[in-house]
Amino acid sequence: MGWFPCSGDSFRKAKNKKKMKMQQKTLDRINSIPDKLKMNSSLRVKEASEDGASDQITAQTLTFRELAAATKNFRSECLLGEGGFGRVYKGYLESINQVSRLLNIGMMQVILCLLQDVAIKQLDRNGVQGNREFLVEVLMLSLLHHPNLVNLIGYCADGDQRLLVYEYMPLGSVEDHLHDLSPGKKPLDWNTRMKIAAGAARGLEYLHDKAKPPVIYRDLKCSNILLDRGYHPKLSDFGLAKLGPVGDNTHVSTRVMGTYGYCAPEYAKTGQLTLKSDVYSFGVVLLEILSGRKAVDTSKAAAEQSLVAWARPLFQDRTRHSLIADPELQGQYPPRGFYQALAVAAMCVHEQPDMRPVIADVVTALAYLASQKYESDAEKVQSPCLDPGTPTRTKRDKERKLNGGRGSERERTRKLK
Ligand SMILES: Nc1ncnc2c1ncn2[C@@H]1O[C@H](COP(=O)(O)OP(=O)(O)OP(=O)(O)O)[C@@H](O)[C@H]1O
Ligand SMILES: [Mg+2]
Repeated sequence: MGWFPCSGDSFRKAKNKKKMKMQQKTLDRINSIPDKLKMNSSLRVKEASEDGASDQITAQTLTFRELAAATKNFRSECLLGEGGFGRVYKGYLESINQVSRLLNIGMMQVILCLLQDVAIKQLDRNGVQGNREFLVEVLMLSLLHHPNLVNLIGYCADGDQRLLVYEYMPLGSVEDHLHDLSPGKKPLDWNTRMKIAAGAARGLEYLHDKAKPPVIYRDLKCSNILLDRGYHPKLSDFGLAKLGPVGDNTHVSTRVMGTYGYCAPEYAKTGQLTLKSDVYSFGVVLLEILSGRKAVDTSKAAAEQSLVAWARPLFQDRTRHSLIADPELQGQYPPRGFYQALAVAAMCVHEQPDMRPVIADVVTALAYLASQKYESDAEKVQSPCLDPGTPTRTKRDKERKLNGGRGSERERTRKLK
């Protein structure tokens, strides 16, 4: 899916002279930053280190020659996919964090070269995105660091070549696991879906609440949530990100950009961007995770093409909630948990931005749902002697020990009911 300027009108307005001057000023400011990074490639940025966020980063500058070598000259067999920015290749780079070692094995000296797998995104010079998105991406990912944001390893600005080098995400994007599954590919189970939703929400919470000033992501969608080992989600693609409002301001005004189906209605209409615009996009993502449907699907009947428009009347009617559930789940989900997750999605896609929750509250709800492990019928058959959800004796004992003999979190929650 590509980016779009949501309205032609706003695009024409953007051509207005005054605005152009201001944009040029901003561009000049952003332009100067990668130069600073180049001069000091070990630029350190102090960041909030709560919830595992690292307090320093190092974005490396790499040469085009190094990246060509890493991808066997951008050979088609290394191609991972293509988006609005350009093609994405898998590559192997000499590990930046670990120094190559000289090993003495008997009479032989062996140079142990540690290779790191990376994803290399090459700007398509004829594409819809350009230098500005490249600069914003480098700037944002150099300053922001969190376990639920993809890590920028380095970048290359050689002549007119613009490349971004990320840590490689072995399980691809959430989109790859939800829609148009190839035969034999296992659909995501309920627990994994909740883990992904909670992790993506945490990434967004970091941008909204921990970054100073807050960052509005503007491009939250399933193809931008990448999956590390164990389906650990990380947000990617920050080329559209904007620094959020500061002080008494409630919004920033900007040319409308985003992806059809994910864009908050008030932002599409007015160009006024708030943190709640991201919360709306998150609601659409959560609906996709629950329903397995695409945000926009033109292959469906008119009334079902927009996921939000199709799902909204169903939110009100609890007897019809099961119609929303992804058929790929084959009924293997907790009805109560499903209802609660759906209620979160419904609040996030509320027409009125003020009625949408803040992302911190979404994190609290989804972290709880993710902690409630669901046992599928197949798993229950494998352990028929135990009450579903009953931890094994040793596990239960361990939990008791960790909780000072008070029993597990789960047991305590049960007692409260
Ligand atoms: N770090 C990464 N590790 C592994 N695969 C990646 C990585 N980054 C991107 N990809 C894959 O490359 C493909 C293209 O990604 P890209 O972000 O360029 O486009 P997109 O998200 O599909 O669309 P858009 O340009 O609208 O964001 C996707 O299939 C994605 O899964
Ligand atoms: Mg993307």
